[in-house]
Amino acid sequence: MPEFLDEKLESYARSGIYPFHMPGHKRNVCCMSNPYAIDMTEIEGFDDLHASGGVLKEAQQRAASLYGSERSYYLVNGSTCGILTALSAALPSGGTVLMARNSHKSAYHAVYLRNLEIVYVYPKKTEFGILGSVDPIEVEESLRCNPNIKAVFLTSPTYEGVVSDIASIARIAHKYQAPLIVDEAHGAHFGIHASFPSSSVRLGADLVVMSMHKTLPSLTQTALLHLNSSYVTADLVERFLNIYETSSPSYVLMAGMEKCIRFLRENGAEAFEEYAKRLNEFYREAEALSRLHVMRREDFSSEEAFGLDPSKIVISAKGTELTGKRLAELLRKAHRIQLEMSSGFYALGMTSVMDSKEGFARFSKALRQIDGETGRIRKTADCVISFSDSGRQRMKLSYAMDQPRRAVSFEDSIGRVSGGMVCLYPPGIPILLPGEEIDGAFVENIRNFKKMGLNLQGIADMIHERIYVVT
Ligand SMILES: Cc1ncc(COP(=O)(O)O)c(C=O)c1O
Repeated sequence: MPEFLDEKLESYARSGIYPFHMPGHKRNVCCMSNPYAIDMTEIEGFDDLHASGGVLKEAQQRAASLYGSERSYYLVNGSTCGILTALSAALPSGGTVLMARNSHKSAYHAVYLRNLEIVYVYPKKTEFGILGSVDPIEVEESLRCNPNIKAVFLTSPTYEGVVSDIASIARIAHKYQAPLIVDEAHGAHFGIHASFPSSSVRLGADLVVMSMHKTLPSLTQTALLHLNSSYVTADLVERFLNIYETSSPSYVLMAGMEKCIRFLRENGAEAFEEYAKRLNEFYREAEALSRLHVMRREDFSSEEAFGLDPSKIVISAKGTELTGKRLAELLRKAHRIQLEMSSGFYALGMTSVMDSKEGFARFSKALRQIDGETGRIRKTADCVISFSDSGRQRMKLSYAMDQPRRAVSFEDSIGRVSGGMVCLYPPGIPILLPGEEIDGAFVENIRNFKKMGLNLQGIADMIHERIYVVT
């Protein structure tokens, strides 16, 4: 029997499985009843996203005033389009960027397209096992030692919700005349309520990219790019938006963004107050778990994590007989809860202002039950994203990406130069980049990921263990 995507989605939507994953509207009918009725193009009176002067200009101004930005741009190609644009506008072709190594693959795609040089800054490793904040002192050190750096790029919050000290990093970047670009894809809900971190827009960043669809009631692919800079001009930003963004932006998506911004302006304060209460109650109940552990601020030193976004529910299964993957499977099969991602020792649920009291209660009860039924063990398989150090960059990324490549066995790849980008997905952070030397530790790591059943993108053939190298 063939499966049809539309029918499969509709049947899943009726299944009663609760979504602790993106998109942030959680499939509530907050958006619109019949999308076909409002699916238009640039007809008279409906403006043009690429040269807005009417209804779309006003819509973007409302977004800018909500977030406190000089200018905000609607994006219908996700944060990906905003990241490509921000890096392209902030740096000359061939320029040097100071970039956190845990950047999303879209940032590396901008590096490729604009032939950029990268100087890396590494996020802290944490005792808990996830990646932590970027240290402002290390940013300053890199800028001091590399006068060629023309912009700084980092991700805050990370996929797991770790926030960096953006105010300090912005001050440092500006001291060296470098604009700061923040990938705030997971932070579109920041700055709306005191229980969540402030948005980088108000902390001095020059360009901030946020995916509305990840954490707000907005349709998939909707995102914003905020510009607040004396280093980067609107003219340049618009030039690159014109290149990277579709010339047929969906009015359905844009109408959804307008609805979402209106909801935040008119009802955001009360709705987020209720959301914060539901989250607090969830975290309070999670304290009673004796084997599983729900990550909280106290799990980190201030050096490891400058701040933490409570909207991300990260459950550690360390010390239990479960892996993160198995925990997610139990939640799905026995409790009808679908999480956003699972990994070696943890699983992650994404919450939003649209999550119901019942949803949280079901999650809390399910965790208590699993906790009670799970045995303890001494060692859990770790699965920590790790990167090779910058000494292993043997070829410039954009040069390596354009070289002929071929697939060789994992064994034969050791000591050779990678011809591809390998990401654990989600979150889409490359663990190997084109131009980096492949070493034995990397091969061992990906074999572990394979054993755990994690999704690796960019491997030539996972079954027969073959990987791309530059020929
Ligand atoms: C940190 C980060 N940045 C950027 C992106 C790209 O966002 P989008 O899917 O909206 O293009 C993602 C996607 O997961 C992400 O996790």
